[in-house]
Amino acid sequence: MQIRTAVADDLDAIVDIASMVDPPADDAEVDASYYRYLLEHGHFVVAEASDIVVGYAAVVDVDATLHVSDLFLHQDARGQGIGRRLLDAVWHTNSASAPRQTFSSLHSAALPLYVRAGMVPMWPLLYLNGSSGALPASPLEVRTIAGEAAAALEAEWLTWDRDADYGYWAKRPGARIFAVRDGGSTLAVGVTVRNRAMHTLSRFACVDGSVMPEAASAAARWCGDDVMVAVPGTNRAVPMLMEAGWRVVEHRLYCASEPGLMDPERLLPHPGLL
Ligand SMILES: CC(C)(COP(=O)(O)OP(=O)(O)OC[C@H]1O[C@@H](n2cnc3c(N)ncnc32)[C@H](O)[C@@H]1OP(=O)(O)O)[C@@H](O)C(=O)NCCC(=O)NCCS
Repeated sequence: MQIRTAVADDLDAIVDIASMVDPPADDAEVDASYYRYLLEHGHFVVAEASDIVVGYAAVVDVDATLHVSDLFLHQDARGQGIGRRLLDAVWHTNSASAPRQTFSSLHSAALPLYVRAGMVPMWPLLYLNGSSGALPASPLEVRTIAGEAAAALEAEWLTWDRDADYGYWAKRPGARIFAVRDGGSTLAVGVTVRNRAMHTLSRFACVDGSVMPEAASAAARWCGDDVMVAVPGTNRAVPMLMEAGWRVVEHRLYCASEPGLMDPERLLPHPGLL
């Protein structure tokens, strides 16, 4: 078994494994461009046995933190210590002591690996799906904006530079980047992607947690009727979505090496890129 840095020629094998073990929660096709983006912008390693890729792990830099985007093994390769070796190998050496965060699956072998790597569970990330027509009407206005403009607002609100990520989100088929506005001021920015099954609110950031429910409602209604979104369990939008009959279709555990690395009040994160 060899653990090595992933290269472009590994993409087909990675996408094959992803479609078996990590299919998107919204029933969309596996997005090969996401793995290409991780190859170009993240730190990506694969496990290979007899020239066959059996698993992969990827980490991206988010501000001064490291976010574990992916850690997946083919079914037949599990329970032999390969997941632990992949996770050990994915931290790039010059940032090994940076704060770490990830969304752990509920697979019994995932959480122990993350805890041993210094990340403890803090709150659930709920994948919620429902009808935006059931949400309270909002007077807020929603309009498309350029990715650079959304990244600039996020940099102001959250101090994170997400320019490259907005570049990736903007190029996804069916993607729209938008702002939620109240008169002259922008309250939130986000990304929505339409696929054959539904609309996914892939990421959403607010200027302040207090406006989250109303801004999220305006955004979801603008996206379309059938919407999926991943929401921190502690976020103020959760009661509104539950009252509107939205269903929890999946959940993950946010794990971090210290509190305060991300703000679950102001951000509905993209699970892979945060
Ligand atoms: C999660 C995954 C990457 C782990 O890789 P793996 O190679 O199977 O795991 P490892 O063998 O390296 O280690 C798992 C550890 O968890 C421990 N473990 C397993 N089940 C456990 C449980 N119920 N409670 C506590 N520890 C447990 C194992 O004993 C092992 O510890 P050890 O090294 O001391 O023996 C892999 O199983 C996988 O791909 N699962 C499905 C996809 C998934 O959910 N990925 C996580 C995405 S966030």
